[in-house]
Amino acid sequence: MEWKGKMAKRKKIALIGAGQIGGTLALLCGMRNIGDVVLFDVVEGMPQGKALDLMHLAPVFGLDFTVTGTNDIQDIKGADVCVVTSGLPRKPGMSRDDLVKTNADIIRAVGEGIKKNAPDSLVIVITNPLDAMAYLMQKVTGFAPKKVVGMAGVLDSARYRAFLAQELNVSVNSVSAFVLGGHGDDMVPVRSYTTCGGIPVANLIPGDRLDAIEKRVRGAGGEVVALLKTGSAFYSPAASAIQMVEAYLFDRKQVLAAAVHCSGEYGVKDIYLGLPVVMGASGVEKILQIELNDEEKSQLEKSVQSVKALIPLL
Ligand code: APR
Repeated sequence: MEWKGKMAKRKKIALIGAGQIGGTLALLCGMRNIGDVVLFDVVEGMPQGKALDLMHLAPVFGLDFTVTGTNDIQDIKGADVCVVTSGLPRKPGMSRDDLVKTNADIIRAVGEGIKKNAPDSLVIVITNPLDAMAYLMQKVTGFAPKKVVGMAGVLDSARYRAFLAQELNVSVNSVSAFVLGGHGDDMVPVRSYTTCGGIPVANLIPGDRLDAIEKRVRGAGGEVVALLKTGSAFYSPAASAIQMVEAYLFDRKQVLAAAVHCSGEYGVKDIYLGLPVVMGASGVEKILQIELNDEEKSQLEKSVQSVKALIPLL
């Protein structure tokens, strides 16, 4: 019988940077059957090697996805989504901000490549310092701000949820949390909107314990760096970006925290900052404006100042 239906075109996901996070992203794209992957990196052989390894994994799990490793940016042509991890990761004792200059040059170079080869893509930036790199990516590509986002809020919120679930000895699925602001040491875990089964966490956990948990959330990336010694977190950043990729490609209209371009929301203009958004087929479809208490407002203001301080260094 002749097939008269229209063949669904597989999505193309370009991973810019094939290091620890890039490789994990490629694996997760296959495992979750999101689409075909192009792994791009400047190191010769490495993305090709990872692609070959993943090709060999595909039959084991019955995955029909292709992974191409390349050192030619033109191979990302027509990508639906670009996830950018190119750059140096943090080493022990280094803040995310120490990375600014080196990684800004890298973002400028890959941003030009994305603009030329994947002009209709959604760009998700993971490279640190996150908010500044997402800001720079939007400027370099000239893409609509809703098509350039930074991945941080999903990860920071996941870390908050993980620690709270552990504290309460409940499923992570029962905990809903938001971490807003910049992806730095003064990010803002928003306690007043954080719940366990709909119950505000402040009703379940004493204030001093919550203070300690939130302090740990702010330092969680550094805690991983100190243990790994040779790099920074990669499983959870990759998983968090995958959630954003799926929200976009499958038009989930998912509410999540992401670093987005502000044009007056929360009194902030022309920087990227972690805020609650709706992610769907248009990218960032809406920024949700929520009432914060005075303490959270002043924490957010402090975080805004830290993010702004990096812009002149770009
Ligand atoms: N174009 C493409 N890839 C590049 C470029 C470039 N111009 N410059 C560097 N890279 C590649 C490196 O060769 C390396 O393979 O980026 C990759 C980064 O991978 P890792 O060093 O393993 O770092 P990773 O742990 O993946 O983190 C990447 O995300 O969370 C942030 O702070 C982290 O900024 C870092 C980024």
